[in-house]
Amino acid sequence: WAALAHCEASGGVVKLPDDFIVGSGTSSYQAEGAWNVSGKGESLFDRILHSSALTGVPNADVGADSYHRSKDDVAAARELKLRMYRFSLSWPRLLPNGWTSNVNQDGLRYYNQLIDDLQDSGIQPMVTLFHWDAPQALQDEFDGWNDDKMVDAFVAYADFAFTHFGDRVRYWTTHNEPYLFCNFLPNIAAFLAGTEIPDTAPTPAPGQEANDYKCLQRIVLSHARAYRLYQEKYAAKQHGLIGLSNFAFAPRPNSSSFADVAAVRRYNLLTLGTTFGPLVTGDYPVEVRRMVDEASEREGLGKSRLPEFSADQRAMLRGTIDFLGVNNYFGQTIAAAKRPERGSALTDAAVRVVANDVFGSHAVTAFSQMTPWSLKEAALWCWAEYRVPIFVTENGFITENSVVSLDDNIRAVYHSAYMRELVRGIEEDGVRVLGYLAWSLIDLFEWVRQYKYSYGLVHVDYAGGSLNRTLKKSSAFFKEVGETRTIPE
Ligand code: BG6
Repeated sequence: WAALAHCEASGGVVKLPDDFIVGSGTSSYQAEGAWNVSGKGESLFDRILHSSALTGVPNADVGADSYHRSKDDVAAARELKLRMYRFSLSWPRLLPNGWTSNVNQDGLRYYNQLIDDLQDSGIQPMVTLFHWDAPQALQDEFDGWNDDKMVDAFVAYADFAFTHFGDRVRYWTTHNEPYLFCNFLPNIAAFLAGTEIPDTAPTPAPGQEANDYKCLQRIVLSHARAYRLYQEKYAAKQHGLIGLSNFAFAPRPNSSSFADVAAVRRYNLLTLGTTFGPLVTGDYPVEVRRMVDEASEREGLGKSRLPEFSADQRAMLRGTIDFLGVNNYFGQTIAAAKRPERGSALTDAAVRVVANDVFGSHAVTAFSQMTPWSLKEAALWCWAEYRVPIFVTENGFITENSVVSLDDNIRAVYHSAYMRELVRGIEEDGVRVLGYLAWSLIDLFEWVRQYKYSYGLVHVDYAGGSLNRTLKKSSAFFKEVGETRTIPE
């Protein structure tokens, strides 16, 4: 397998660096089910998936039912010899109306139990506060992330989570992929229905901004405020690390021309620098400021679509991220474009996607997903730019859900190839990487393909309806990694 043309990784057994954490993850909406059980409030995605526009599209009302089967998930993680499990808290399960004035005790019990079970199994939790399933109550109250009040609500929710779980949780991520969340949300229904598969982002509806920088800015501010609050109130006792996860597109230039190389940089800054930048330096990268200002001027807007941070906000933001969460699945080839017609999220960066191995097509072919270089290069770029440790919070291989899905040696090949490229980045290029989390622990509801294709290391019996968990063949690879602390071929 490893000799396949798509795999650039070299062979041989590779030793994992000391302290390097290997684990896996899920998210609340995709795994938990029990959408209206035991006092849980409705989430944004419950509402969207129940909308009439999506009639016939499977939802995650029941999902993998992890709410009732979390012990099975933990047992599977233990069998796989994983050292970390990344999951997200469902904000509306804990706080049904979004605010801390109304706590759902069953939700609290559920996550306390999950964290205790992980601890008993020697598995560290990594807790994501926001993996997109906002409380619908806050959507109704003030339109969620379209309003500054969401920042206050998020900080109060983070405070609540630190209070109740912080004694046992060392690794936190505030947000998952805000660039995608903010830009996809306006078109999410079409996205979920698969009627419009975005290239890197959907065409905005008429009147909709190409990039929702205001949403992004609120997310960045909410992260920084939660971070500062943690430092003031909890850090002395709890010693946690707080990161944020971004989707890294890992673009490569289509040619060695200056224009294409510069386009790659603009694209990275647009997709990663709009969040990591302010949290490291206190402001947007100058290149992003320039490109959005200029684009806005050409559009005759009078005012830049990229909002400003005040001096106080800049001071508050600077240095508020302990690790950069990097999610990467595949690479892209990027070229410079003339400013495309208005209506694409790529407009501001003036780039064009020449080849995109997975997105943009429903046809998922195994080898088109194999671009092991992309994970290493994403880590390299982030390290070179920000000098903040990296945590690979998602990397995974999708296969069709069917009877043969248990026979997934190819998934082991994928993880082996990506992990060894990453370790090479650590050893040869000095990138600081804290760990690697495979997406996903179990087969999940997937946003675009629902139950047709999944990334799980563990099969969930959706077809038969039992929802039983069964380790797939690729589990042998993870067991060996855990036991030997090496990456087997
Ligand atoms: C990431 C998300 O973007 O990609 C996950 O954080 C998601 O929640 C994963 O499941 C895979 O999604 P897709 O749509 O690319 O198959």
